[in-house]
Amino acid sequence: SAAEKGGWSSFMRKEISEEPAAVANTLLGRIHDGAVTLPELDDIADTLTGIDRVIVLACGTAAYAGLVGRYAIESWAGLPVDVELSHEFGYRDPVVNERTLVVSVSQSGETMDTLLAVRAAKERGAHTVSICNTQGATIPRESDAVLYTHAGPEVAVASTKAFVAQITALYLLGLHLARLRGALDEPAIAKLLAELQDIPDKLDQVVESTPARIAEFAHWMADTQSVLFLGRHVGYPIALEGALKLKELAYIHAEGFAAGELKHGPIALIEPGQIVFVIVPSPRNEHSLHKKVVSNIQEIRARGARVIAVAEIGDVAVAPFADEVIRIPFAAPMFEPLLAVVPLHVFAMELASAKGLDVDQPRNLAKSVTVE
Ligand code: G6P
Repeated sequence: SAAEKGGWSSFMRKEISEEPAAVANTLLGRIHDGAVTLPELDDIADTLTGIDRVIVLACGTAAYAGLVGRYAIESWAGLPVDVELSHEFGYRDPVVNERTLVVSVSQSGETMDTLLAVRAAKERGAHTVSICNTQGATIPRESDAVLYTHAGPEVAVASTKAFVAQITALYLLGLHLARLRGALDEPAIAKLLAELQDIPDKLDQVVESTPARIAEFAHWMADTQSVLFLGRHVGYPIALEGALKLKELAYIHAEGFAAGELKHGPIALIEPGQIVFVIVPSPRNEHSLHKKVVSNIQEIRARGARVIAVAEIGDVAVAPFADEVIRIPFAAPMFEPLLAVVPLHVFAMELASAKGLDVDQPRNLAKSVTVE
């Protein structure tokens, strides 16, 4: 009902506006004196110290959260991380043992594919942690430990606030593992946590400043047949998420690519007028990826692509090459996805609205898929 939407025109619009709170609430009470406090993992502390690899199991948007988590956990905790689609995992012969930590990510905690994958992992001796947004759901009940996301109930079929909360929980887990395993020293962890705690305010700025602009160009794009998304490093899973949302909500063919892969194939798709979203890493971050992504933009621009860049406020280098620049505040490299994804969520919603579609209930999809 209209009352449940709290004055918003759709649950999705309401839930995008709640993305900053979803991150803040998932952090709440879990950071003290520059360290992560996760009492829910105390019982498995010895296990977490002894594992030698991590496998993230999830489907859909949750799997893209897992892909972001991979970069963070590998970098901070020094553990190898694989991200697997749940429905593939149980049907090969996965090499898993008692030194494997399986982290399932599920908003509902009821996705049958993920539940079956968790059971298959347990049968093979793995330890299991559930990242879940729904108290007491089946997957957390069947896991050794649970790290709840506190996004609040998510109603729109397409996941938005739960996604940023899942990424946040994976960051906390990564820093927790880094401390248990001595992979990062205390000041390094404290610095990262301080940066993470700044994210909700920055997200507020994105939620305030981007929607009106995006609504404008989403409207002139209502007839678009295909949209591509490019990203690198943690921007890559965000490109995948941007493409998935557009398929789900606006029924437009969309693909996400790792920007470095462009020259190995996808660049053949570029023809005049092709719309390409590019997630641009901040030039203020040390790795050299900013330059590489800007040169990718030049390559596709030269072939007639219409480029919409999602770039940091201070990034002047990108402006001459992009048709549109959506500005986001500066964030440390690992945390950029939380800010960059919001404009893509807004874009998919606005394009679907421009086409007169129901953004909360896309055709053929269910919020929670409880059958295999
Ligand atoms: C369904 C939904 C997706 C969601 C996926 C995983 O397919 O339509 O939006 O990402 O399930 O859901 P979960 O509850 O496990 O996160």
